Order: sequence, then C-alpha cells, then structure tokens
Amino acid sequence: STLQTLVPIHGVLMGKELAENWERIEQFEARSDDLLISTYPKAGTTWASEIVDMIYADGDHEKCRRDAIYNRVPYLEFRIPNMPSGVEQLDGAPSPRLVKTHLPIQLMPDSFWKKNSKIIYVARNAKDVAVSYFFFHKIVKALPDPGPWNTFLDNYMNGNVGYGSWHDHVKGWWEKRHDYNILYLFYEDMKEDPKREIKKMLHFLEKEMSDETLEKIVYHTSFDIMKTNDMANYKTIPNDILDQSTTPFMRKGIAGDWKNHFTVAQNEIFDEDYKKKMTGTGLQFRNEI
Ligand code: A3P
Repeated sequence: STLQTLVPIHGVLMGKELAENWERIEQFEARSDDLLISTYPKAGTTWASEIVDMIYADGDHEKCRRDAIYNRVPYLEFRIPNMPSGVEQLDGAPSPRLVKTHLPIQLMPDSFWKKNSKIIYVARNAKDVAVSYFFFHKIVKALPDPGPWNTFLDNYMNGNVGYGSWHDHVKGWWEKRHDYNILYLFYEDMKEDPKREIKKMLHFLEKEMSDETLEKIVYHTSFDIMKTNDMANYKTIPNDILDQSTTPFMRKGIAGDWKNHFTVAQNEIFDEDYKKKMTGTGLQFRNEI
C-alpha cells in the first residue's frame, strides 16, 4: 500500500529509517551559530542550501563542490543506507554548521530553540509541491510507490505522506516565525528575483557581500547551472537509492507546473479544501508567477 514504509511520530508520518533514529534526532545538540534550512519536502530545500553554502564560502563555488558526501548540507534526520546519518555528520562537524530539515516545527529538537539558532524557512505553493513530491516518490527507492496521480493527490491533501500535511507544516512555521530566529521565504519570490531574496538572507545572516559575489551566487545557484552540478543535484547518490534515470532531481524548477497535472475537477476539490485549512492564516502563496 501507499503508506507501507511510513510510520507516525507524534501523529506525523515519517520514513521508517527516520523513526528508528528518532531518539538521536530529538537529542541533537544544536549550536547558536548553526544555520538551519527548514522546508516541507520539494519546496526548494536544495536550492536554498546551495545559496547559503555559497554565501558561507564567500562565493567560491569550487569550494562548494569539495568534501561533500552527497551534497554539502546534511539533512538532520536523514539516514541513507551505507552513509553516515545526518546526526553523525553534524555531531563532529566544525562550526558554523549548515543543516537542512523537513521536520514540522512541533517536532524540532528543543536545542534549536534553547540556542536560538538562525533558521531560514522556505515555503512553496501547495500545488507545485504536490506535483514535485509525486515525481520524487518515483525516484526515491525508500519511498512508497505513489500510485496514480489522483491517489497521491488525495493522500497529499489529507497529510498521508512523509512529513504529514503541507498545510500544517507551512502554518506551523509561519505562526512561530516571530517567536524564534526565523526568516520565512517563498520559492516563488526566489524564482521572481533571486538577487532580492539572497539579499534578504544576507541581511538576516548579518553578512556583507560585494555585488560581484552576489551575482556569482545568483548564477551558480540558477536552475540551469545547478542541473549540471552533480554535487548539488544528488547525482553522486547511487541509483539503487535515488534513481534519476526517468525523472531528474532537478526536474523543472518553475512556478505553475501544477497546471499540467491537475484536472479542473481536482483543482476545484483542492481549492475548496485549501480554503478551509488556510483561511485566516495571513499566509499568501502565489500558484504561478
Ligand atoms: P520540481 O520538481 O518542481 O522541478 P527540494 O530541494 O526541496 O527537494 O525541492 C526540489 C524542487 O526544487 C524541484 O522542483 C527542483 O527542480 C527545484 N529546484 C532545485 N534547484 C532549483 C533552482 N536552482 N531553481 C529553481 N528550482 C530549483
């Protein structure tokens, strides 16, 4: 069945591998100079992490391709077979550390709040995430078969997918954004004007940068360049774990691809459900740009 390899942790569905490692994740020791990239899956995690990696490397893109196991910024909660887990990679890593996570805010290890670590949250519109997540299930061998699109969309709408409900995730982080050290960004804004959004990151990180370096970062983190950068696009992960032969990880990288997949009827049902869950939150997404 679709939910075969997912198990609930505090009511949110997670991969089995992650669930087995849960205690170590809960007890993870964050540091005050950690920078966390937090997202619901498929919201532009890899893109944002490549940007901050380049910021921390002062625009030296060669440096960003060295010393990587699969991608320079580990996922806190990941355990890929035959590779050190996220926690293992991070525990011994020198500061300042860059960390990625898909955890919903209520499941975050407490130490991030105690240390007041900086967090960049990236949100992407629900419909494009649904499409991107559907294709992602086809390439990640550890994820269950998504079944036909209609079935997957149903499961996604109801939060019956890894990391649970998109709606709960984006709302949870949004509601707490002023309580903690959180910069809340949108994928669609990054598409519209990457330079403007990178400047927001720089301001949040209290870093200065020359315009030349900034332009270099925009260039090297563009979709077309990242598509050819195997250190960024997970090509170094073996095929039996991530099979990119039919759909590449860097799939389309646009805002509005959902229109090629949602039927009119699916869209109506989705919008109605969306209104119920999102009205009154103040969270505004653009479903196309
Ligand atoms: P699509 O499947 O819609 O193409 P994540 O890193 O969170 O898993 O998100 C992956 C999604 O971000 C994919 O979306 C991928 O193509 C897109 N993406 C990755 N790098 C990007 C970039 N530099 N610019 C725009 N989109 C990017």
